[in-house]
Amino acid sequence: MKVAVIGVGHVGLVTCATLAHLGHEVAGVDVDAEKIALLASGHVPFYEPRLPELVAEGFEQGRLRFSDDPAEAIPGSEIVFICVGTPADAGGQANLAAVERSATTVARHASGTTVVVEKSTVPAGTAARVRETLRRERPDVAFHVVSNPEFLREGQAVADSLEPDRILVGADDAEGLQTMRRLYEPLTEHGHRMIETDVVTAELSKHACNAFLALKISYANALARISELVGADVEAITDVMGTDPRIGPAFLKAGLGYGGYCFPKDVAAFQSFSSKLGYPFPLLSEIARINDEAIDAAVAMVQDLVWNLAHKRVGLLGLSFKPGTDDIRLSPALALARRLIALEAEVAGYDPTAGDEAGREVASLIVARDPYEAAEGAHVLIVATGWDEFRSLDLPRLRERMARPLIVDGRNFLDPDAVAAAGFEYHALGRPTVAAGRPRTRA
Ligand code: UDX
Repeated sequence: MKVAVIGVGHVGLVTCATLAHLGHEVAGVDVDAEKIALLASGHVPFYEPRLPELVAEGFEQGRLRFSDDPAEAIPGSEIVFICVGTPADAGGQANLAAVERSATTVARHASGTTVVVEKSTVPAGTAARVRETLRRERPDVAFHVVSNPEFLREGQAVADSLEPDRILVGADDAEGLQTMRRLYEPLTEHGHRMIETDVVTAELSKHACNAFLALKISYANALARISELVGADVEAITDVMGTDPRIGPAFLKAGLGYGGYCFPKDVAAFQSFSSKLGYPFPLLSEIARINDEAIDAAVAMVQDLVWNLAHKRVGLLGLSFKPGTDDIRLSPALALARRLIALEAEVAGYDPTAGDEAGREVASLIVARDPYEAAEGAHVLIVATGWDEFRSLDLPRLRERMARPLIVDGRNFLDPDAVAAAGFEYHALGRPTVAAGRPRTRA
């Protein structure tokens, strides 16, 4: 099928490449001519495993192209995806201006019946606005607006697209639904499940999912605070919780909390949206508060351990908002770096992919080329993002470079015994009982 995708960021580009891989003919369009030029030259502007290969494949098979001109990309498309950003404005409300501009663009260039797909995370009811805009601009064309929320995790976005847990499609008419069934047939005929709802239910489901995942993380971080006060081990508690299939182990990891361009934005947008409806939903502001509190707890731990922080050297391992991505948007690691720098610490950070970007984002952050450079002369080394390579650090080499063998594990990620055996003091959030020099609670 001929498909156009408006917005070629993390969601849009993955949508383009995976739909082309599934056999569709895809045109990606964006207002950012520079980004389009980069893509047209085969360069993927962010780190996402498997994406470069899929983009190259789409080019080779002539099923994928990019353009900065909607007049070239949209006419003739049966389906147009809206994958533009919906950033949170000051009050947390989702800014939908790009969505409206996209709807106007589709209306202007549509050449016949068109299914318009909302993929960006939007407040419920947005599709109705899109539908109004389309009809006002082009009363002569039959538009079908559907919701198809993305459930892509950065670092696993291609896998989440080609092996989805479920494909959610919200449609209010048979034609829109039929078209989406045809589009995803290459996946549903291989057993992937498509869930079909009305449009507003699909829109609300997206906020419901993301806010619940964020709730699990904040619940674990609240338990970490209580564990620190009572001398319990939050990792052991969340292990116990996770063995209950009604709870499940995923997204219960305490640490520096969640970041990225989704959870913080979606929790705020959901709260603002539900408040506007007349349902304040205070639980959502608690999720955000507990998340911010996790950074406070890490700063307090470092200050307690290091004593006077001013002019002391702090090494940070990890700067992206999570492993497997170079995305530093709302990264807890950078939030921590800013707080420590504000307390006059000298902060050196290393990250496998996000170092340069982080250095541009946080003034006076020293960007180290490897973990050992980040540890040079450090009074404390903090694991801020749990990159796999940090599991195989040369601990003796780290120790000899540091001013003090002190590790704070912000992602509860390292093996406390191995770190203590290498002569380090080891501290982790919510785990006061595993610090080196004190017996661990578990045999
Ligand atoms: C998320 C949702 O998972 C995805 O379905 C949605 O489409 C977009 O938002 P993403 O933001 O890419 O995906 O990352 P995710 O893997 O969900 O992690 C989000 C944040 O939570 C990261 O900062 C991660 O470090 C943190 N996290 C995750 C925890 O702190 N603890 C956990 O147990 C899991």
